[in-house]
Amino acid sequence: MAPVGGFAVIGAGSDFKGKITVSVLITCIVAASSGLIFGYDIGISGGVTTMVPFLQKFFPSILRKAAEAKTNMYCVYDSQVLTSFTSSLYIAGLAASLVASRLATTLGRKNTMVLGGCTFLVGAAINGGAANIAMLILGRILLGFGVGFTNQATPVYLSEVAPPRWRGAFNTGFQFFIGIGVVAANCINYGTAKHSWGWRLSLGLAIVPAAIMTIGALLISDTPSSLVERGKLAQAKKSLAKVRGKGTDVEPELADLIKSCEIAKAANQEPFVTIFERQYRPHLVMAVAIPFFQQVTGINIIAFYAPVLFQSVGFGSDSALIASIILGVVNLGSILVSTFVVDRYGRRFLFILGGIQMFVCQVAVACVLEATTGVSGTKHISKSYAILVLVLMCIYAAGFGWSWGPLSWLIPSEIFPMKIRPTGQSISVAVNFATTFVLSQTFLTMLCHFKFGTFLFYAGWIAVMTIFVTFFLPETKGIPLDSMYTVWEQHWYWCRFVQKQPSQNLYDGN
Ligand code: BGC
Repeated sequence: MAPVGGFAVIGAGSDFKGKITVSVLITCIVAASSGLIFGYDIGISGGVTTMVPFLQKFFPSILRKAAEAKTNMYCVYDSQVLTSFTSSLYIAGLAASLVASRLATTLGRKNTMVLGGCTFLVGAAINGGAANIAMLILGRILLGFGVGFTNQATPVYLSEVAPPRWRGAFNTGFQFFIGIGVVAANCINYGTAKHSWGWRLSLGLAIVPAAIMTIGALLISDTPSSLVERGKLAQAKKSLAKVRGKGTDVEPELADLIKSCEIAKAANQEPFVTIFERQYRPHLVMAVAIPFFQQVTGINIIAFYAPVLFQSVGFGSDSALIASIILGVVNLGSILVSTFVVDRYGRRFLFILGGIQMFVCQVAVACVLEATTGVSGTKHISKSYAILVLVLMCIYAAGFGWSWGPLSWLIPSEIFPMKIRPTGQSISVAVNFATTFVLSQTFLTMLCHFKFGTFLFYAGWIAVMTIFVTFFLPETKGIPLDSMYTVWEQHWYWCRFVQKQPSQNLYDGN
């Protein structure tokens, strides 16, 4: 059927899964809002760690160093303690994401999201009231558990509920809400930075996005796949009827889900063992490589430290925050571009386009810094060059926004068969967090020692990942989850790993 207002109405694969209904739209928007808490934290921690009263209270040594270090702009904020504040969340998130696959299987995707929201809320309250560094770290650990749960459950939720033909668009909603969280946090930081208690407000206000997404998650029903998996057949039918729209015969789809679930249960395998079988090697490689590559684009370095970075390259502390707000808005706009393009031109097109764009920007930033601040980093960068760095970073942020940002959540959530889908997503989130942890822990030291060469390091990785996608990532656009095995069977390299098992594969999916 012809596209209507940017959306086609009937799906490509299985007819019974193709429609966009108001209900599925609202359900997915509400579910995607889980991204808010992750984004809020990313945006807040970057800003709070440059607030003088915050540093005075918890990290006074950094201020002393900043006062002395007039010489090398690359090294002012190089502090392991400060970065461990930021990255403690990622260690907790890593642990939680691995537990989350069991929760998502036994309690369901929705309840895992609710649990994540509640944990995050408690962490936010502790952080807002923190009287000492122990409270600060405890709060961050709880925030980490929160995002570990939600980042695991939400992308899977979206991919299971979305009509296959528009799965990419629906799934980008998660990254869009991450982006909203980042921008909201940057604006809040801008407002609170002037007050001595501003950091408290910034950290404590995290309860707002947590409350929004938790209430939202309570209101939606779980995915039909998850309900079937947990033996709640009547509810599964109701949920299916709701998202597929009035008058749709949901029996065939329900029967499919039940069959695939029975086969998975009969096999009675431990998913963390199954996923290492040779036939799932391509899936596993993607679940590890995609989030790893997403992080070595350098995005978090830019997100966490954009205010620090802009201050170092010559912006005052106010304009540094404004600069990161601009960056966030550009990123947000570009995610929307992805929403409209991902199911038309495909995932590979966006990955390759975004990759080239980010590569060029990172190299250009390195060149500008080399030319203006010199190898030692002691020369002062002029305002106009600082603006040029900002423009380059905006083009970079746009590239990330329509490629590795949303697609790194989408791909792992859509490539796995039902029985190991939560496990695959867990591994992916864990790799994402582990890589973020290592990078954020090492970035400032790297910036201090490699200076502008740091940006070339990321440029090198972007080249590698773009080549990887070109040769190894099959196109998954429009393929129903239960037919996904075909993309591996037809792939020039991965075909040697997967087993052609039509009788199993027929039911092996959502
Ligand atoms: C990434 C985060 C990143 C954020 C930026 C997410 O997809 O996983 O690490 O900070 O995008 O908006």
